[in-house]
Amino acid sequence: MKYYTFKNNDKIPMLGLGTWKSSTGDVYGAASKAIKLGYRHIDCAFIYENEAEIGLAIKDAISDGTVTREELWITSKLWNNRHGKDNVIGALKNTLEDLQLDYLDLYLIHWPVPLKEQFNFPMSPKHFYSLEERPVSNTWQGMEMAVEQGLTKHIGVSNFSVKKLKNLVENSSIKPEVNQIESQPYLQQKEMLEFCKLEDILLTAYSPLGSKDRPATMKAKDEPDLMTDPVIVEIAKSLNASPAQILSAWAVGRGTAVIPKSVNPERLKQNLQTTEIELSMDALEKINKLDKHYRFLNGRFWAVPGSGYTYENLWDE
Ligand code: A2P
Repeated sequence: MKYYTFKNNDKIPMLGLGTWKSSTGDVYGAASKAIKLGYRHIDCAFIYENEAEIGLAIKDAISDGTVTREELWITSKLWNNRHGKDNVIGALKNTLEDLQLDYLDLYLIHWPVPLKEQFNFPMSPKHFYSLEERPVSNTWQGMEMAVEQGLTKHIGVSNFSVKKLKNLVENSSIKPEVNQIESQPYLQQKEMLEFCKLEDILLTAYSPLGSKDRPATMKAKDEPDLMTDPVIVEIAKSLNASPAQILSAWAVGRGTAVIPKSVNPERLKQNLQTTEIELSMDALEKINKLDKHYRFLNGRFWAVPGSGYTYENLWDE
């Protein structure tokens, strides 16, 4: 496994296990198998509703001697209805309880979209807080308290635009160390990558394979298929690899961490091997040309009319 190193010398494995959409019933087996295969980084979130089962897999892997807690990198995320300085510690403690851990390696603000405490998902514009009522900088103070209390080693954000990330960097005592966003050849996020390199912030690429197992309500009818893109397929053939492996290798090769999701033992194994694949300059150039700023996860579910949240102000574009 290859790693990126943070300022304090902590090391995050470049490739982790994605767990969004891994259902209970499947995720215990997937996480256990992944750890046995050599995965040391698991990406979780409260809202995936599977942290308790992942926690059990981690506990069992530690107690049977497969791995130690120190060897693992566990990330989780603060859900939208727990924004606000005074809500963060409680939410994080719930997640730690589910995961059966004393601390996280990384805790992220999941979306810059605060919701009223009673609602996991908004059904009306009344279910939102505006960013004036619940500023990200206020939530961030809670995130900083979590570091001070030893509940997480690192803090960061997810689904933040360059503008929002810049604003947070300028208004924080502890700088965000990670932004986790969708990144794949159709959405290459070049401006974000440059900004993060300058600021020493690690980008983690989610939906690196195009997240085909998303619920139908989150899919566009005419969405492109990354895994069968002729350029990706051709490069895969030339390297005797699979398209999924090329996609993860591309992500790691450009300096992002990557978290492909799988619950299938063979695919878990295949995905883990991708950090060993090096793409030629020619292959990289061909993939660079695929960029079309296409989001598989476009966040339009937050753009409830009357809420003040729109696609444009979510991504600042
Ligand atoms: P499965 O869990 O059955 O393996 P993303 O990481 O972009 O969200 O994509 C996840 C989707 O990609 C899931 O449907 C997952 O299915 C599938 N997948 C994961 N790894 C591979 C692979 N190596 N080859 C083909 N499909 C894969």
